[in-house]
Amino acid sequence: MKDFVFQNPTKIIFGKGKISKLGEEVVKTSKKVLLVYGKGSIKENGVYDQVISSLKSYGIDFAELSGVKPNPVLSKVHEGVDLARKEQVDGIIAIGGGSVIDSSKTIAAGFYYEGDIWDAFIGKYKAKKSLPIYVVLTISATGSEMNGGAVITNEKTKQKYSFWSVKSYPRVSILDPSVQFSLPKIQTANGAADVIAHVLELYFDGSRNVQIMDEISEGIVRTVIDSTNILIKTPDDYEARANLVWSATLALNGINGTGRSGGDWASHAIEHSLSALYDIAHGSGLAIIMPAWMRYTYKEDVEKFARFANKVFGIDELDHEKAAIMGIDRLKDWYKSIGLPVSLSDAKIPVESVDKIVENAAMRTPFGRLKKLQPSDVKEILNLCV
Ligand code: NZQ
Ligand code: ZN
Repeated sequence: MKDFVFQNPTKIIFGKGKISKLGEEVVKTSKKVLLVYGKGSIKENGVYDQVISSLKSYGIDFAELSGVKPNPVLSKVHEGVDLARKEQVDGIIAIGGGSVIDSSKTIAAGFYYEGDIWDAFIGKYKAKKSLPIYVVLTISATGSEMNGGAVITNEKTKQKYSFWSVKSYPRVSILDPSVQFSLPKIQTANGAADVIAHVLELYFDGSRNVQIMDEISEGIVRTVIDSTNILIKTPDDYEARANLVWSATLALNGINGTGRSGGDWASHAIEHSLSALYDIAHGSGLAIIMPAWMRYTYKEDVEKFARFANKVFGIDELDHEKAAIMGIDRLKDWYKSIGLPVSLSDAKIPVESVDKIVENAAMRTPFGRLKKLQPSDVKEILNLCV
């Protein structure tokens, strides 16, 4: 196990009806906030009304930025920074999933930065200050509700990049699993694929002697599979939803990376190129890329891939190479079974696009820890996805 420092400042309030606690938390730092949300789901499922009612009962004033799209874009962040300054807010409330939370984190950092906050994504600026951020989570996938990361697409340059800052952790995140009953099945499935990918990026990074972390990781993957199987049939099963919600947070709140080597993250890098170019949902992109990456790299650590097959799918095959492949195939079949695409053609992305995706990814190669990938490797992986 490697040495590590672990600290996570986000307070989690978990449970049914807990959005009513929002005002009580926000009033500790803020008098007027910017509400950031997406294209309207929160107005249909009652979350918006719950938020407003809690803020009003504590006399908190607000302005609103709506219309954040999945795969959120830099121009919307700029609009948010301008609005936050004009309205002189002293806090931000993100009501949504990763796209809304990441936009909010970027607006919160951009509020204090004279230049273009895109600088934080290209290593020209380290976010030193941020407005306080509060989250009402409505879709579980990214773990953004309890980490300091944000992913934004610069639509002009077609770069989907991330930044991380210790200042960008939400102060408080409210996780009410019941507000996710309204998710379309495909969004629940996208979220599940993202959670599994976060676990596996860390699990397959070549670390040794991290038994406790491996057991936690395998437990999260099994729980995600079991809960999602229930939710695809019964979207309003509270206990299954609650287990999926907390699995998603635990997968990327820092705990899961402790003692390890930092994670591989090549599948995420390739997927981000895919969604920068084709606007595919992040989870769907990962369902295509991750099994192909596993196929391409399993020989670097056959034992670990065989362990995964055994611990997650109960595959008891003595030939470890065979077991490794069986585990990868089972994961891919499971993605298919919950309605996710597992090839570029499933996602209606033309086969001829491979070179374009490689070119986009090549802005950042080499990446990956289990196997360092060059553009030619990325191309081989994409060729396994057609
Ligand atoms: O816009 P609305 O109408 O709200 O609809 C949203 C959106 O279309 C809908 N939705 C959310 N909650 C709902 C709901 N529909 C019905 N009922 C509800 N309760 O779901 C759609 C997807 O939302 P989005 O926020 O895009 O999903 P997700 O949480 O998967 O976020 C994806 C983004 O996060 C980034 C991804 O790359 C992608 O841009 N990531 C962020 C990370 C981080 N900050 O740590 C790490 C991840 O690896 C990831 O890269
Ligand atoms: Zn992800």
